[in-house]
Amino acid sequence: MDDFVTFFVAGQETTANTVSFLMRECQSKEIKEKLTQEIDNVIGEKMFIEFEDLMSLEYTTMAMKEALRLYPPVALTFRYPRIVILHSQLE
Ligand code: HEM
Repeated sequence: MDDFVTFFVAGQETTANTVSFLMRECQSKEIKEKLTQEIDNVIGEKMFIEFEDLMSLEYTTMAMKEALRLYPPVALTFRYPRIVILHSQLE
């Protein structure tokens, strides 16, 4: 149950927000056209998308990263290290 909640909350909201903000980017006609063109070229009518296809979506990746930069679904975290190892201790 714990894992389900973690994955559902961590995975669902973050992804939904990212896609929503990417769609907001599409209000720009230029961005929308470039995204549409790239997806048409790379994916087209394919029934199954390969990992390599995703790697070829360069403009889409850039647009998604820009959406994440402008509207980060997770803007900050509260993690801190329990143990601090100084660089000098490693030598
Ligand atoms: C755009 C989408 C996503 C963003 C922006 C995002 C962001 C983050 C961030 C910033 C953390 C680190 C939190 C911290 O260090 O306190 C994190 C951790 C985590 N995320 Fe995501 N996430 C996304 C998608 C997903 C998806 C799809 C899943 C699972 C289906 C997922 C599951 C998790 C889990 C389980 C952790 C905790 C990992 C750990 O304990 O080390 N996330 N996420």
